[in-house]
Order: sequence, then C-alpha cells, then structure tokens
Amino acid sequence: MSDNANDASGNEFVTLKDNSTGKTYDFPLIPGSTGPKVIDVRTLYRDTGYFTYDPGYTSTGSCQSELTYIDGEEGILLHRGYPIEELAEQSNFLELCYLLLNGDLPSKDERAKFEKTITYHTMIHEQLMNLFRGFRRDAHPMAIMVGVVGALSSFYHDSTDINDPVQRMIASHRLIAKMPTMAAMAYKYSVGQPFMYPKNNLNYAENFLHMMFSVPAEDYVASPAVARAMDRIFLLHADHEQNASTSTVRMAGSSGANPFACIAAGIASLWGPSHGGANEAVLDMLGQIPSKDQVGIFVEKAKDPNDPFRLMGFGHRVYKNFDPRAIVLKESCDEVLAELGVDDEPLLGIAMELERIAREDEYFIERKLFPNVDFYSGIILKALGFPTSMFTVLFALARTVGWIAQWKEMIEDPSQKIGRPRQLYNGPTQRPYVPLDKR
Ligand code: SDX
Repeated sequence: MSDNANDASGNEFVTLKDNSTGKTYDFPLIPGSTGPKVIDVRTLYRDTGYFTYDPGYTSTGSCQSELTYIDGEEGILLHRGYPIEELAEQSNFLELCYLLLNGDLPSKDERAKFEKTITYHTMIHEQLMNLFRGFRRDAHPMAIMVGVVGALSSFYHDSTDINDPVQRMIASHRLIAKMPTMAAMAYKYSVGQPFMYPKNNLNYAENFLHMMFSVPAEDYVASPAVARAMDRIFLLHADHEQNASTSTVRMAGSSGANPFACIAAGIASLWGPSHGGANEAVLDMLGQIPSKDQVGIFVEKAKDPNDPFRLMGFGHRVYKNFDPRAIVLKESCDEVLAELGVDDEPLLGIAMELERIAREDEYFIERKLFPNVDFYSGIILKALGFPTSMFTVLFALARTVGWIAQWKEMIEDPSQKIGRPRQLYNGPTQRPYVPLDKR
C-alpha cells in the first residue's frame, strides 16, 4: 500500500499498486471512534481478482462493534467506554450485562427491573433434566454444556424469531439467567449429587454458589466476600471483542441459525486450551511443578521450540502488555485466599515465582508474553472449591452475555451478511478421473 491520501470528498484512502500489471487501486480508510483504522477491502476481489490472506485473522477486522474496545499495547479494556477496572470496582456482573445489551448503565429502576427479569428466568424446563441423565457420569462438564445449551433450541420456540427484537431480548435474558442453573447441574451430575433449584431471594452470584454447593440436607451460604469474588470473576470474563468463541457465535449466527445453537457453538470453541480451556490448563500446569525452586525448569521447557510445553495463562493475541483483567484477578486472589484462610496456597507461590521469572526472561519480554486473564483465575476458583473441570464452564457462563450481545449486535447490523471467507488453494489442479482398473 502506498501513502494515505484524501479523495475529493475528503475521505481518507490507501492505494494498492499491483506491480505485475502497473494498475493502482484505491481503498477507503475508515476510522473508528478510537483505535486502529480499517482498510475497507470489500471490493478488493471484484476490482483486483485477488483475495487477502490472513489465517488466524491477525490483521483482519470482521465487523463493526460498539461493545468492547481493547488496546493491546496499553493494556486497556473498555465495555461501552467504561474501563474494566472501574466496572470491577464499582459495578457488578448483572449491571454489566445490562450495559452490554442496552448500550448504557441502567437507572436504579432499570437495574432493579433487569435483575428481577433475570431472576425469574433462572429455572430451566423440567424435561431438560432428563437430558443431563443421558451423559456418562465422567463426562467433562463442558461436553455436557455444549449438549444442554444446544438443546435449549428445542425448548424455546417463542424466542427464536431472530428478526423480532422482543424475542431477541427474551432469548438473551433466558441465556444469561439459565447458564448458572445448567452449569451447576453439570457439576452436580458429575459428582452424583441432586440438582439444586435456584432461589429468587439470592443475587446472581449467591444463587450460582447455592446451586453449586448446597445439598438438600444443608444449604451453602456464600459469605459476602466470596459472592463478591464470584461476581467479579463473571464480570471480568463477560466480553472481549472478536475472540475465537465470539467469532464462532457471530459466524454461526450470520446464517440466521437459532440463537441457543449459536451459543452452544461458542461454548465448543471456548473449550480449547488455547482459549477458555487455558484456566483449567494453568492449574494442570502448576500442578506439574513440584516446588518454587523447580519453576525455572518449566520456563526453559516453555521456551524450547521443540517442546510442546507452553506456559498456560501467558501470552495473548491482542495484549502485548499486561491483561488488565489479570491485574484485577491477582488483587482478588490475595483477598479471597486471605478471606478463606488459604493465603499460604502453594500454587499461588509457584504462580508468582513463574510470573517473576518469565517477566525477567528475554524470551517472554521479546515476545511480549504477559499473564492473561486465565493465569490467576484458576487459583481463585480452586480456593472457592471448584474442581478444575468446572473452570472453563464458569468462563462460558460469564461469556454468554458477551456472545449474545455480539450476536444481537450482528443481527441488528444492516450491513450484516453471511460469513463466507475464501482461501489460497494449493491442491491439485484439474485432472481426469482414473478408472479403478487403470490405477
Ligand atoms: C483467552 O482472544 C481473546 O481475547 C481470548 C481471551 C478472551 O477473553 O476471550 O482473552 C481468553 O483465550 C486468553 C488466552 C488463553 N490461552 C493461553 O493462556 C494458552 C497459552 N497462550 C498461547 O497459546 C498463546 O499465547 C495464545 C494462543 C494465547 C496467543 O497465540 P498467538 O497470538 O497466535 O501467538 P503465537 O502462538 O504466534 O505466539 C507468538 C510467539 C511464538 O513464538 P515464536 O514462534 O515467535 O518463536 O510466542 C510464543 C510462540 O511459541 N508463545 C509462547 C506462549 N504463547 C506464545 N511461548 C511459551 N508459552 C506461551 N504461553
């Protein structure tokens, strides 16, 4: 691309010069409200006969969005303009859900009404319980969640007309409200305990902890500090621009698919250890390190290109500075461990030693590999009593609002089209079929 210039109407554009033909092509340069501008290449193939090539989409904007802004160099994360640090300190998960779905913070009445709406959608259809019983007891809870959330598409026919804004909002409310119930049921099923029903007198985080850890014989009552930590973990995981699972939901939704099925697709993508599955992988990794003094051995393994071992919870496609969520989580980690009287947690000591060594090591500094959201979340979740197999389920529970808000934004975008990328073809060129007796 050559220099920027302005066209007659003053709009910026960039010029592509095809040296093989000597032809030049102008493409509009579109600014956002902040962050990098985009080169609008929608006419590139029509004008030049060429595709762009960007596996992993490292330099590709897939959509316009007003939900979440990330500045990876500065470690900034904004939801509808509000910094994640201020939301974590002063807001709560349901208020952030309202913000993401509606565009601004709710009034006192709007917030109370929204909380009541979510509360009264927390139960699931009684027949869905039968579906849980079809899984093996040792099924990974994420496998159960993919199945059960997808099955919601067979229950709610009154909220799947994606062209009806009222039904889109009902489907959004149902998903936000029912994810904790189904997540807790996936856990209860895996440990052979009876399902616990939601209680309307509990707030979102308290209700989830109740459904997770109460049994018919005895209620679990979360302390305010534990419930606050749970709520903050949900808030920090709510949305994160066009990550792999969100892009999966958008792609699935771009064909007009059932919203519940689209969220199930997002859960499937999040499960991978390079994405949401990393929080579980961090705990497994820390569990492999016998003591603080052996951390250096594992850092060397992570640097060895021939060793598949990676420092899980480190690195990020966008953040080339600290993940601001990791900073908040690290503070919460200290608070929760102190509140629970487990501040001598050896895993925390190993994690902090790992972070110290990695941050002084040229390999990590050169590649700008910092702790991400998954590095500390697992330690808090372990301290709260969750098995590692539930960590990614909690990530999916929280990210559901991001997925459904991004899906809703896409459906409501007048320029929205079905997603259909092209390719660089390297296969055999045309050749005649060879009959079996001639092979
Ligand atoms: C999430 O996109 C999002 O926003 C995701 C997320 C969200 O909220 O939705 O933030 C949540 O998924 C956080 C990331 C969780 N994943 C992990 O912690 C897994 C470990 N991290 C890596 O797998 C990796 O860092 C990724 C997948 C997160 C990012 O990979 P990229 O951007 O494709 O970068 P890369 O794999 O090309 O790595 C660049 C270099 C490579 O070395 P070189 O080939 O240049 O020599 O850094 C190295 C990599 O080998 N590298 C690591 C490393 N991460 C990258 N080396 C050791 N340990 C690591 N963790």
